Amino acid sequence: MKKIRKAVFPVAGLGTRFLPATKASPKEMLPVVDKPLIQYAVEEAVEAGIEQLIFVTGRNKRSIPDHFDKAYELEAELEAKGKDKLLKLIQNIVPPHVSCIYLRQSEALGLGHAVLCAKPVVGDEPFSVILADDLIDNENNGCVKQMVESYKQHAASILAVQQVEKNETDKYGIVSLKNKTDNEGFISGIVEKPAPADAPSTLAVVGRYILNPHIFHFLEKTQKGAGGEIQLTDAIADLLADEQVYAYEFDGVRYDCGSKLGYLQASVELGMKHPEIGKEFTQYINSLKK
Ligand code: G1P
Repeated sequence: MKKIRKAVFPVAGLGTRFLPATKASPKEMLPVVDKPLIQYAVEEAVEAGIEQLIFVTGRNKRSIPDHFDKAYELEAELEAKGKDKLLKLIQNIVPPHVSCIYLRQSEALGLGHAVLCAKPVVGDEPFSVILADDLIDNENNGCVKQMVESYKQHAASILAVQQVEKNETDKYGIVSLKNKTDNEGFISGIVEKPAPADAPSTLAVVGRYILNPHIFHFLEKTQKGAGGEIQLTDAIADLLADEQVYAYEFDGVRYDCGSKLGYLQASVELGMKHPEIGKEFTQYINSLKK
């Protein structure tokens, strides 16, 4: 079985739900406490043993490569001032054995199209796809790490799933399982953003995938689907005709940082746990309840 070495980060989206904040800067660079969303996603990938980070970027996204690049001036300044702790913080974002590759998706044609853009770099091996606006918090055993283990066990493409409210099915890819009473297992079907009345279940795909490279074969043929976009979900539905796909119920708390509410929830909860300000911030939050 091939090792999962590569992760694709589709980061070309326009971030319209966060305008005007995302007018000139990428939504993936929005900070939760002191780290941008994309860094949480990258750290989760590195923790899972990923060695190649493939960013599929678009216009207005230059700050993402800058963030993961060496910052000579800043480093020199921090070194001169003896600020060693801060220096380490910015130097060790991507460890030396991990490389970053940037590809440009010139048109925002959808998630499926973004993943297809990575085909020449991914090649013929299984890979992970990570959507940075789903922040998944689980210390020392991140979602991708758990999925890599699940991949070893099931030798099939893996989708991270969680139960959502019935009235929210139109925000997600929704799966049905072969064994309908379970929350995890091999899937029998998948549909992108069904209306609650049409949804086959309330088991939703969140932004973590491990995909067999065979998916590219289907992505190349995928037509525009929900929202007029080329959907990864539709290619996965086609893949199902050829091979099994496993829905994995992960451990951890997922925040939908693509929405204002989810983003604020992540900021508050991670703020309350933060080693530097957690205690004081918790006191502040508690004082608001009075
Ligand atoms: C994408 C996928 C969807 C998935 C979701 C998870 O949708 O198309 O199937 O459930 O991510 O966050 P988006 O949120 O980009 O509209």
